[in-house]
Amino acid sequence: MASTIRDFSGQHTVSIADLYTQVRARTMQIVAPLEIEDYVIQTAEFMSPARWHIGHTSWFFETVLQAYKPGYSVYSEDFLYYFNSYYEGFGVRIERPKRGTKSRPTVKETVAYRNHIDEQVLALLQAPDRLPNAETVLSLVRLGLEHEMQHQELLVYDIKHLLCDQFDAPIKPLPKPALKVDGMAEIEGGLFTLGNDGKSDEFAFDNEKPAHQVFLQDFAIDKAPVSIGDFLAFIQDGGYKNFRWWFSEGWETVNREHWRAPLYWELHDGEWMIRDFSGLQSAESRKDDPVFHVSFFEASAFAKWAGKRLPTEGEWEKAACYDERRKVKSAFPWGDADPDSGKTNLFENGYWSVAPIGSFPEGASTYGCHQMIGDVWEWTTSDYVPYPGFKSEFDEYNDKWFVNQKVLRGGSFATPQLHIRTTYRNFFHAHERWMTSGFRCARDL
Ligand SMILES: [Fe+2]
Repeated sequence: MASTIRDFSGQHTVSIADLYTQVRARTMQIVAPLEIEDYVIQTAEFMSPARWHIGHTSWFFETVLQAYKPGYSVYSEDFLYYFNSYYEGFGVRIERPKRGTKSRPTVKETVAYRNHIDEQVLALLQAPDRLPNAETVLSLVRLGLEHEMQHQELLVYDIKHLLCDQFDAPIKPLPKPALKVDGMAEIEGGLFTLGNDGKSDEFAFDNEKPAHQVFLQDFAIDKAPVSIGDFLAFIQDGGYKNFRWWFSEGWETVNREHWRAPLYWELHDGEWMIRDFSGLQSAESRKDDPVFHVSFFEASAFAKWAGKRLPTEGEWEKAACYDERRKVKSAFPWGDADPDSGKTNLFENGYWSVAPIGSFPEGASTYGCHQMIGDVWEWTTSDYVPYPGFKSEFDEYNDKWFVNQKVLRGGSFATPQLHIRTTYRNFFHAHERWMTSGFRCARDL
């Protein structure tokens, strides 16, 4: 792997040791406004306490130390048990829904563990070339940093679920839209090279590779994500009360969970309000923002109601990064330059929410599709399965999840800039919606 890499700002290249320090510090910045009591509470089976995240991300690096640092001795068997997430290969572990049932290890002990791991990893990175498996160690540390950035985003979801507007997030004011974006882009089909070719120095997960050809029919895709205003119209038209828009499993979920709107929507005196990190606001006042916290079931129901459908991940990726004039794929919708806050709404923007549609004209794709990177992860209709020719690069990381989940693309306001690529494949179950999930629709031509 490359010995120097982009730093967190995307502006400079740094050593992996410097990147390690930056990424690890970011995690602690995110949790800094929490009170000690906040760190251990688990508000739902699908979320994890902040104390668990800061320990688990350290545990991941400890597995590297155990395997590759000569003479390394385990910090604590109890910690290995509590901070392992789902890795069968790393032994027994606490069940996920029980992460909030223990007050030990304490937050103080977890931070001490974290500091210990940092010292050990940084010592390893001082002279990686002296290690017998230098290449492997460096690529595992890089993977560990991508893993940590995934958990930074999960921390945003989980803190929102725990505290929402009670969390003292360092929120910057949202931008004003620069233009109105509506309509659909019509895109010619044919053979398209889907996925990451693995040729650039930039990191990519194994599940994005290899690049391979898919055939697309001619299609149209929304130039903007579906807005809160659009979704409100679906609700007001009885969308959640009419079985005809829903998949059978979706309709069962609507009835079992009593869904009447996306997560974090509340009905106050007959008016839909949305609770966010910034407080409670009427849905009407946010009608031009992308809708977020919707499940695949809700996205699919809306699309059917609107006479459209969700895009496949091939359609989404072509709309996001294919340059028809040059006949090449770019790294991002706007070209090959790294993401910045003027082109897209990612974690570094500091909005802690979605930005109004039309806020990032410079970030549009060559087809005129806006906000494909950042704001909301966008549901696709594609199943999360391995690409043809897939080779696992790390057991149990991506490869064991290739069943019963759907692909989402594009990153969200909680995704670090360094962590996102157009080829990035996120995946969740069809009913999940505590993450920053939205969508745009497509249709056949
Ligand atoms: Fe993890």
